[in-house]
Amino acid sequence: MKVAIGSDHAGYDAKEEVLKKLSDEGHDVVDFGTYSHESVDYPDIAHAVAEAVASGECERGILLCGTGIGMSIAANKVRGVRAALCHDDFTAKMAREHNDANILAVGSRTTAMHTIMRMVDIFLSTEFAGGRHADRVSKIEKA
Ligand code: RB5
Repeated sequence: MKVAIGSDHAGYDAKEEVLKKLSDEGHDVVDFGTYSHESVDYPDIAHAVAEAVASGECERGILLCGTGIGMSIAANKVRGVRAALCHDDFTAKMAREHNDANILAVGSRTTAMHTIMRMVDIFLSTEFAGGRHADRVSKIEKA
């Protein structure tokens, strides 16, 4: 799968680990930065990843910051993006099954690395359930 990934400085270490794991598994991962621990503004990275997903360049996106909150707020400003801030296996699964989320936002300071890795697996492998959820998701775009 072609996956866009990005983080700010707070999410940088976790982003590098997720990037390595997905590349090792054969995913085509596009890294939108940041590329060091130097402080950056999370909206700049969120918007780049969100545009890559909204345009269809990448099928899914993963965003990491300290809490995941800023990344999810910023990414959801881009039309067509459904960024879900998830904290565990269940929220990652529901984000895909019920909300057809196309970006996973996670907090590197709130969520353990092994949980982040599991959420990434779930997020990339779970299909949208469709049906009644499709009607609801389509209403999101009408706002
Ligand atoms: C950076 O200190 C922090 O504010 C950022 O990573 C994120 O948590 C914002 O939502």
